Amino acid sequence: MLDVRNLEVRYGQIRAVQGISIQVNKGEIVALIGANGAGKSSIMHAICGIKRATAGEIVFSGEEITHLPSHQTVRRGLVQVPEGRLIFGGLTIEENLRLGAYGVAGPRSEEQNIERVLSIFPMLKNRLSERGAALSGGQAQMLALARALMAQPKLLMLDEPSLGLAPVAVEEVYTLIEELRRTGVTILLVEQNVRQALAVANKGYIIESGQILLEGKAEYLANHELLLNTYMGLERGDES
Ligand SMILES: Nc1ncnc2c1ncn2[C@@H]1O[C@H](COP(=O)(O)OP(=O)(O)OP(=O)(O)O)[C@@H](O)[C@H]1O
Ligand SMILES: [Mg+2]
Repeated sequence: MLDVRNLEVRYGQIRAVQGISIQVNKGEIVALIGANGAGKSSIMHAICGIKRATAGEIVFSGEEITHLPSHQTVRRGLVQVPEGRLIFGGLTIEENLRLGAYGVAGPRSEEQNIERVLSIFPMLKNRLSERGAALSGGQAQMLALARALMAQPKLLMLDEPSLGLAPVAVEEVYTLIEELRRTGVTILLVEQNVRQALAVANKGYIIESGQILLEGKAEYLANHELLLNTYMGLERGDES
């Protein structure tokens, strides 16, 4: 479904990402794992067209999309939930949700869509007229996920969905991520939280200094967890 080949991303002279190749198959959860500054967000931004790739090729559903801007990648079903969630605190929950569908024409109407999304997120249903600012961190992450689903994604990209959340909220977010896979959404998951990411992923890539250090099935990478934590300073997850 997604095929990234030899991707390079630069900020001026700084090469943040070099020679990265990633494959995501339909229905999979694929994790990109790495410490602060490893290049994870840069990879995601290049895929969805927020940041221009300086070399390499990105193919989605058989179409080359390497240099498409984000408003065009979103129409093709590539939808990201950015780091830090970016909920509009001054808007209501319903307004935040409807913004997710803005400029996207999926197979469902907006009303069908909102009904479906609220059935996945019943906790938002009774709070539609409340302001985004009233939500806790975990609830805001749920709203950010719900808003992304309003765009009817084929590939959902999540940038550190557990960052800054209490352990209970992390569990809830991850339960939901697994539920989304069951409904057929393909997910590219960026995380520093190794254990949590590998617990749901089919496959993972360990990113260090803009390059792939290790890749493989989640079970295989989980066997390297101690090494990853010790040498890369990655978070241990909910036990620490
Ligand atoms: N706008 C920018 N200008 C210059 N350098 C940048 C910019 N954004 C990122 N970088 C650099 O690119 C590298 C990769 O950053 P990136 O944000 O992709 O990492 P990350 O893995 O997402 O980190 P984090 O876990 O902290 O979000 C870092 O060295 C960072 O300093
Ligand atoms: Mg990042």
